Amino acid sequence: MKKVLFVCLGNICRSPLAEALFNKHVANRGLQQEYMADSCGTAAYHIGEEPDPRSRANARANGLEYTHRARQIGLADFDEFDYIIPMDASNMANLQLLHPNPKATLKLMRDFDPGHEGTNVPDPYFGGERGFQEVFELLDRATAALLEHLQQTKKVGP
Ligand code: 4NP
Repeated sequence: MKKVLFVCLGNICRSPLAEALFNKHVANRGLQQEYMADSCGTAAYHIGEEPDPRSRANARANGLEYTHRARQIGLADFDEFDYIIPMDASNMANLQLLHPNPKATLKLMRDFDPGHEGTNVPDPYFGGERGFQEVFELLDRATAALLEHLQQTKKVGP
């Protein structure tokens, strides 16, 4: 079982959607026994909240229903998860400050978005509707590519 943790700032827009889209790809490929995903935020502002209603409405329009309760990252997450996937460089910097030597592999979400390696998943929180659709499409693509990468690099038996 590989455990993947998606991280953003508030854990109400980008990372819960990334978690839901990753889970969708896992289910579509029948790999539920092999992967577990979760999401969290680096900040504490929205602890306990459900995902942003604009994110959920946009996802619903694209045929995806999901829910989540926002939580903040804790030190135990760095040992609990195999992969920690921050949405942007600022989230990455905060994670590296929190834990300089984690067991988990840290990698930016868009390092799995072909042609957009090293760039940020834009934060739709302060933007308009178009931002949510853009983020949905790029996370749909990047989480599918992440899953494909994990499948390709899977260690085979001892
Ligand atoms: P997220 O978006 O990091 O994608 O969940 C944000 C949500 C809330 C805030 C910032 C970003 N905020 O400043 O409250």
